Amino acid sequence: MVIASAVGGLGVDIRDASVRLGGAAALGRATLGVMPGEFVAIVGDSGGGKTTLLRAIGGLVPLAGGTIRFLDAQGTPVAPGPKDIGFCFQEGRLLPWRSVLANVALPLELEGVSREARLEAAADMLRRMRLQGVERRMPAQLSGGMRMRVAMARALVTRPRLLLLDEPFGALDEVTRTALDEELLSLVRQSGATAVLVTHAIHEAVLLADRVFTLRGRPGVGQPPIAVDLPTRDEAARVSVRFAELCAQVQRSLRGAAA
Ligand SMILES: Nc1ncnc2c1ncn2[C@@H]1O[C@H](COP(=O)(O)OP(=O)(O)OP(=O)(O)O)[C@@H](O)[C@H]1O
Ligand SMILES: [Mg+2]
Repeated sequence: MVIASAVGGLGVDIRDASVRLGGAAALGRATLGVMPGEFVAIVGDSGGGKTTLLRAIGGLVPLAGGTIRFLDAQGTPVAPGPKDIGFCFQEGRLLPWRSVLANVALPLELEGVSREARLEAAADMLRRMRLQGVERRMPAQLSGGMRMRVAMARALVTRPRLLLLDEPFGALDEVTRTALDEELLSLVRQSGATAVLVTHAIHEAVLLADRVFTLRGRPGVGQPPIAVDLPTRDEAARVSVRFAELCAQVQRSLRGAAA
């Protein structure tokens, strides 16, 4: 295998970031320091600006105010290259004329990785996403959930230093989702990458993340992040009292003190 693993997760320093789209506020204000290698989940109401914040981190929309900087493990500001950031969009965005395998191999092709190595790496990532057997299919022949898992495999295949994941498993059934949550967590931990995951599901945020960042209201205003102090991230964690307490804390953060 010639694909190098991430050289260390990127830190992200977001300060008073706000975004306007189409003349209106899409993201009210967000301040968050994501540490290198940390896993942060973003939760918030529909239309609150979660996708917008992720796109702002990825440099896909400009800020109306505030700053977003990237830092290495020493805290030195760095300018990430295209392969340092893996983006998994909410709607998947696969190329319809390429097979599943060729879609996942695409970022490696753009990097100039040899055909044999990139197809091997793509097939390996598809296996990890529980997609063996559909390598030769076209995106139109997949279910919505399968398409999202292919998009996820494509985001992970370059071993990025920062993963931006926009509701990757939102359309999946609970059983598949739980299995993929665990797979995602182990892939991210192995790679050392920093991960920012947007999700509607509070329990998913608490299960996966080191900290949960909430955007309250529309446009969303960031609240102080909630640290997840669970000793494990498995079935035992999911049924623990602490897990339920943390979910309630996130809920309160979303709704305000009165909730
Ligand atoms: N291209 C655009 N032009 C104008 N307004 C936009 C655009 N994209 C998003 N918005 C608006 O910005 C706000 C935030 O949208 P965003 O997609 O970030 O929300 P979200 O929290 O990701 O919602 P969801 O949970 O439904 O995915 C919404 O009011 C939305 O209508
Ligand atoms: Mg969204």
